[in-house]
Amino acid sequence: MRLDIVSIFPEFFSVLDLSLIGKANADGLLNLHVTNLRDYATDRHRTVDDTPLGGGAGMVMKPDVWGKALDEIFPEATLGDGERHVLIVPTPSGETFTQRIAEDLAGADHLVFACGRYEGIDFRVAQHYAERGVEVRELSIGDYVLNGGEVATVVMIEAIGRLLPGVIGNPDSLVEESHGSAGLLEYPVYTRPVNWRGQEVNPVLLSGDHAAIARLRRDQALEKTLRRRPDMIQALRPDQLDSDDRSLLARLGWCVGENGVRPLEIRELESGDVDRLHALAIRTFPDACPPFLSHEDIQQHLDTVLSPQSIHSWIDNPHVRVIGAFLPQNSAAPEGDHGGEASSDTGDGRTQAEQTAHGEQLVGYALVVGPRADGPIAEKCPKQLSDEHCSWAHLSKVYIDQKWRGSGIAAALIAVSADMASQMGATSLWTATSTANKRAAKSYKRAGMTKKGGRTYTVGTTTCRDVVMQMTLSSASPQ
Ligand code: ADE
Repeated sequence: MRLDIVSIFPEFFSVLDLSLIGKANADGLLNLHVTNLRDYATDRHRTVDDTPLGGGAGMVMKPDVWGKALDEIFPEATLGDGERHVLIVPTPSGETFTQRIAEDLAGADHLVFACGRYEGIDFRVAQHYAERGVEVRELSIGDYVLNGGEVATVVMIEAIGRLLPGVIGNPDSLVEESHGSAGLLEYPVYTRPVNWRGQEVNPVLLSGDHAAIARLRRDQALEKTLRRRPDMIQALRPDQLDSDDRSLLARLGWCVGENGVRPLEIRELESGDVDRLHALAIRTFPDACPPFLSHEDIQQHLDTVLSPQSIHSWIDNPHVRVIGAFLPQNSAAPEGDHGGEASSDTGDGRTQAEQTAHGEQLVGYALVVGPRADGPIAEKCPKQLSDEHCSWAHLSKVYIDQKWRGSGIAAALIAVSADMASQMGATSLWTATSTANKRAAKSYKRAGMTKKGGRTYTVGTTTCRDVVMQMTLSSASPQ
């Protein structure tokens, strides 16, 4: 690649000799030329600027001087030679320079940086070279104003130059870095000593388990990006996120829908939420049922176990937690998919009653029954578990609206349920799900639950076989 820089401070660019860019220039990987703009001024004072036409503060760089300099850099013969010539004008009013732009410009044949000073370069210069077939890019390195384009040019050359083949010794280091193809900020890095001033590195990094190390780094990259650059998280495509990514994001308050990553809120439900929880409960329960259950059996369950009265009693019970996952309304309606069954007057498959005044939508819920609950809600702990000396909470329900399955919301609800179970004094959590519902068993397993035999469960008048799963809670803190 040929690089030209035009500036009234050519000495400024000796800094490039100190870096990998200087070495690449010396090794012939790129071909760097610096031109002093003043060499093209015609008067005794080598003037390159004049007052702005129309008045105003400061000085504007003269197009005639720039024209002479750039005509030498872009002789007629080079234009239309099939190569990509780009004139880059650093300016705070330009498009923001990003890693994507650096990658794009690294593919050009010839980059020319025109460093303006004062109020900038007469605009006709950019127009003229664009008309002659040069690709002109006005670029800003950030939302602040420098005294000229020189520092910005060094920044851009460094970012572009290191992407050229051969410039960086180990091209692997380009793969995982911040703003790379993963769309995330880079995870924190560590080296020896393993213990420094009382700070230990995560032992996983010393384990030699490459998959575990990759997962840890990915989790750290996601968390860091979320904290510092939520805009980058929102720009991720769903196909860039695996199920572990989705669970982590959902626990941190984001869920992955078909149109991207959106904010999510998980909180306890209140009596004002009963109507829409009832609506969600009745539209999600049938999907979890084994195929042999009759419509009547399912209806009987909906009319009793999932009635509004029953839901009220969950919410009013101090030994029970009902947890909801909410999406803001503008996130809650992925375009083109109105998979919900409820009749709609809101255009998103949900009735008005199912949305709050703030327009948030309930898309998932979990029900945790604490160790001190009694009455009909306190299902008997399966006997294979009750032998163990634990204080059991029951994860009685985790249901997610169909279109948000696979978004990580279930994992987040299970994690929050486990925390709430601990807070209610439980040391272990059990759940049971239909043997036919493989999807649910998989998501409990992913959340850290293990299978522990089975049980029977009655829906309407039919007895169903459930698989029982359990987990030990990490920090039991009785109330
Ligand atoms: N010239 C002055 N400020 C600048 C900025 N922020 N980016 C690029 N060029 C500039």
